[in-house]
Amino acid sequence: MTSLTLIDQFGRNVDYIRLSITDRCDFRCEYCMAEDMTFLPREQVLSLEEFVRLVRIFVGLGVSKVRITGGEPLVRKNAMWLFEEVGKLQGLKELVLTTNGSQLAQHALALKKAGVKRINISIDSLKSERFKKITRTGDLNKVLVGLQASINAGFEGIKINTVLMRGSNDDEAADLVKFAIDQKIDISFIEEMPLGEVNHSRESTFVSNVDTLKLLQSKYSLLPSTESTGGPARYWRVANTDTKIGFISPHSHNFCEACNRVRISCQGELFLCLGQDDKVELMPLLRANPNDDTPIIHAILDSMRIKPKGHDFDLSRAQPAVVRFMSHTGG
Ligand code: 5AD
Ligand code: SF4
Repeated sequence: MTSLTLIDQFGRNVDYIRLSITDRCDFRCEYCMAEDMTFLPREQVLSLEEFVRLVRIFVGLGVSKVRITGGEPLVRKNAMWLFEEVGKLQGLKELVLTTNGSQLAQHALALKKAGVKRINISIDSLKSERFKKITRTGDLNKVLVGLQASINAGFEGIKINTVLMRGSNDDEAADLVKFAIDQKIDISFIEEMPLGEVNHSRESTFVSNVDTLKLLQSKYSLLPSTESTGGPARYWRVANTDTKIGFISPHSHNFCEACNRVRISCQGELFLCLGQDDKVELMPLLRANPNDDTPIIHAILDSMRIKPKGHDFDLSRAQPAVVRFMSHTGG
């Protein structure tokens, strides 16, 4: 049997999937969610068994890297079972997690045992009052305890994800980098993306990574790094430290030409691009064919024809680029 792989019409090989296993979260970050959110009823969300089945199918199609995200993946009931099952799949090389860190104190060790290699933890401020304001509900101290538990658990990599917002936390870039250096971990700055309707104008809070890089270069000696995850981040190494700084810059850099990923929402929608609406509904196929993967395999292979060339973010538009929140699609 020839082995099937996922190649789109632009020749890009898709070997990385990101699963949003829940749209729910215990935080309400200002750039991510509106103040009052309604979440999906349980029956409209894929079961954990369905997620594992999907991952198995994708791994059969050559996918070697899986990121579990959300919402906050660790607030989903029995989430650890999913990590254990996915961690056992033959052919999967990298299981990684994006989390807000609020539950890491309890789960870090079990995640490591399940085979999770690297963790991204969102931290937008090191000042607890401010952290509370940005996340609307979050407790910085809990996240820092979770981070420490993860460091102790010995993951191959831990990275902080930071979204800077003008007038909110844009004065903390250098402090966050210092913190990352002290902890011997990495940090990435993510430009705010117009995903979903929030309570502020995205244009008014936008901080360009070009400016953040300039500021950091004035304080640290940064060496350009060629390391790449096939993704949107450009990396710099801080000289004489263990820390890398990533810049995820959908606005100031277009990164789509090397895109190697697709996303699966908590509802089983296969999104071909974070910034576009093109999708294939996998939930009905999974439910109509409980014992036969063939129709699902065909739908996934076919989806490669509609993977768009790139995203189309424009902050000056009145409408968000896509109406769904990142928590729905998975970051
Ligand atoms: N723009 C940029 N980053 C976002 N995140 C969530 N929503 C947005 C948005 N609209 C971030 C989270 C997390 C990462 C996966 O994405 O902070 O760190
Ligand atoms: Fe939750 Fe992450 Fe969204 Fe914040 S950014 S509300 S932690 S899903």
